[in-house]
Amino acid sequence: MNLSQQLQDNNTLLGQSRRCKIWAVGGGKGGVGKSLVTANTSICLALMGYKVVTVDLDLGGANMHTCLGIPIPEKTLSDYISKKVSNFSDLLVQTPVKNLSIISGAQDELGIANLKQMHKNKILSKLGSLDADYVLLDLGAGTTFNTLDFFISADKGVLVILPEPTSIENTYRFIKSVYHRRLKMIEELLDIQPLINQAMNAKINTPQSTPVDLVKKISELNPEMGQKLRAEIGKFKPQIIINQIRNQQDIDIGFSIQSVCKRYFGIDMDYVGYLDYDSSVWQSVKKRKPLLMEFPNSRLVNNFDRIVHKLLEIN
Ligand SMILES: Nc1ncnc2c1ncn2[C@@H]1O[C@H](COP(=O)(O)OP(=O)(O)O)[C@@H](O)[C@H]1O
Ligand SMILES: [Mg+2]
Repeated sequence: MNLSQQLQDNNTLLGQSRRCKIWAVGGGKGGVGKSLVTANTSICLALMGYKVVTVDLDLGGANMHTCLGIPIPEKTLSDYISKKVSNFSDLLVQTPVKNLSIISGAQDELGIANLKQMHKNKILSKLGSLDADYVLLDLGAGTTFNTLDFFISADKGVLVILPEPTSIENTYRFIKSVYHRRLKMIEELLDIQPLINQAMNAKINTPQSTPVDLVKKISELNPEMGQKLRAEIGKFKPQIIINQIRNQQDIDIGFSIQSVCKRYFGIDMDYVGYLDYDSSVWQSVKKRKPLLMEFPNSRLVNNFDRIVHKLLEIN
């Protein structure tokens, strides 16, 4: 692949020339509340009057339709990839919520889980040109390249975390994987592979060194590139949500994760809020109805209101 092609692909991945904003919701683990967050954030935005499309990218475990209270859509992303559906916008299905449509992921893991780069770029560019204000992606669990790439290419990447050691560990693993994948892209974009190798070799005697140390070393070797690299890394700013909180200690976990990531990776994360542990969540899931529509007086309404305002950067 030549450089101009690479730059073009990077621009597609990094969201330049996009009509709508793409927000991706991820997290290292299953069952942490990604679908809950995606569905109800989408509903909040739609109720505020924005045109929203929710895309189920939990490939193989798609259940967003249930979270939004509709049956399995007939046409899914698999049909588009296998060329059974040629028009991307034919995948859109209206939900009972005004302004909110859904694009369903695949019901079968095959094909989609092994999405080729070419397909991924095509889907991204189609998503970016949908007639919508916001496109929300519900990502699957894990750190496959597909998931990482959709997360990286979004305008905002939201991480849902439970205040439990396993979820926190998985979050760090996810951030680390995204960071490395992003660094790889920046390397190609800035063409600084030799410089990175030089910096890595120079630090060979310090096994405890962090990505922050690496960037520092690169800046010493080449201040101009160091600055560019810092600027590119600075664009990576995950938004974190702690779900199922029961006390202040749970809330504070968000701040600890924020400071660890600053120290280790040198990245600034936005702690956009938390969600109470509340029985209305599983009750709405059992009823196959969206939480916010079924329980408009739930505590989570205020939680979501705050989170969405933060994500929209309205204070
Ligand atoms: N804030 C919460 N309070 C109570 N139960 C919750 C909450 N968030 C999630 N759950 C429970 O966890 C389950 C998994 O949530 P889900 O959004 O499907 O996770 P994911 O998409 O990450 O796999 C829900 O069905 C619900 O029973
Ligand atoms: Mg899910």
